[in-house]
Amino acid sequence: MLRPVWRKGRSAMTNVQPAGHLFRRSAVHDVPRVRRAEGVWIETEDGRRILDGSSGALVASIGHGVREVIEAQRAQAEQVSYVHGTHFAVRAQEELAERLAEMAPGDLSRVYPVSGGSEANESAVKFARQFFLETGRPQKQKVIARWTSYHGNTLGALSLAGHAARRRPYTPLLMDVPHIPPAYCYRCPFGLEPPSCGTRCATALEEEIIRQGPEYVAAFIAEPLVGAAGGAITPPPEYFPIIRDICSRYDVLFIADEVMTGIGRTGESFAMNHWGVVPDIITTGKGVSGGYAPLAAMIVREPLFAAIAQGSGAFIHGFTYGGHPPSAAAGAAVLQYVRAHGLVARAARLGTYLGERLQPLAGRRIVGDIRGMGLMRGIEFVRDRATKAPFDRSLRVAERVGEAAFARGLIIYPGAGNVDGVRGDQLLIGPPLVITELEIDELVARLAGAIDEVAAALP
Ligand SMILES: Cc1ncc(COP(=O)(O)O)c(C=O)c1O
Repeated sequence: MLRPVWRKGRSAMTNVQPAGHLFRRSAVHDVPRVRRAEGVWIETEDGRRILDGSSGALVASIGHGVREVIEAQRAQAEQVSYVHGTHFAVRAQEELAERLAEMAPGDLSRVYPVSGGSEANESAVKFARQFFLETGRPQKQKVIARWTSYHGNTLGALSLAGHAARRRPYTPLLMDVPHIPPAYCYRCPFGLEPPSCGTRCATALEEEIIRQGPEYVAAFIAEPLVGAAGGAITPPPEYFPIIRDICSRYDVLFIADEVMTGIGRTGESFAMNHWGVVPDIITTGKGVSGGYAPLAAMIVREPLFAAIAQGSGAFIHGFTYGGHPPSAAAGAAVLQYVRAHGLVARAARLGTYLGERLQPLAGRRIVGDIRGMGLMRGIEFVRDRATKAPFDRSLRVAERVGEAAFARGLIIYPGAGNVDGVRGDQLLIGPPLVITELEIDELVARLAGAIDEVAAALP
């Protein structure tokens, strides 16, 4: 029997199921319990001290254990923990919205809080659809996305995500979303090289819009830097300005999925600022609450909001926990902390330092590419540096580097499938924005040790 593609490369299933009733991320591998965490360090119950080199999944941006945030949540819970958005507003929601609007580019000023990145992207797609319904273009309903991308795990968000291994078990359940190739210069999908390539990856959007029929296309969604599906794949500087122009010309809403890149991660409040691009909708999550609460948001341009306000008067959408008061209070406190401690500028400065410290790893036999911006960096592993041939997935190279790093007291975020949705090994490095130079040195030393250990054991 063929092994299902999504299990390729997994170690053989064993019967060592962790005890208890918790349905964990892995049904077969146990993980240590955490006792406490502070700053960039996590302590386990069995006494280990682990450097959080990826803020979990690029979430814990302001570091662990920040008293002000915990206190803001507690104070909110003492006032009120829950009311429904159809009945009441809470000041913390307004503060959260105000701070996000301040950070967002252009006239992106209406903030719709939700509980996670997938919900934010679901909201964005439905908002785009409703916007065109209300403005008299009901046939505009398709959303174009990209291959080698991740937008979440709910069925709508997974339909946008261009990651074959994650999609395949659920393909029959997914929406029909056309995908264009990514802006992936290390493995250009068109076999070209900048600067002579004419940014073919960007003009591919125009071709797809024409192929689908511009009158049917409502939106285009992309991550500024590809995160979980690509290991910080960074576009050439012309890419997003061209994308913006194409979207404007065809009346297609541009959704920037800044769930991972937002709130300073790349050294700008939102990564789109690097290229001076104002999207129509930004979705953001992770760093908004820094992991202190489940929180994300959709931010839309004022005129788009106005179209609905002056039309039907309501976005036909909503979640029970949208704007959950203690989560909103956590988010408002985190954004205040980011501002008060200048963490966006710090991410830019320490990001440059991290980038420099990672450079020597480029000489390692299995390292193909090192990329990223600010404190979001990625490493791609290859079997052959000359041909860029990937490793066989059965070797689990990315996972093994992750395991070797963990054994050295370092968390990084390994991923696979960057080459064709299944093949390819990469990892993300994204420490809390409060990390120091010394801690970066420690991170890189532990990572180098892990890479060397795995490289030495490979054929
Ligand atoms: C770019 C991007 N979009 C969306 C999501 C989904 O967010 P969540 O897991 O909070 O639903 C993620 C999560 O990793 C992400 O990186």
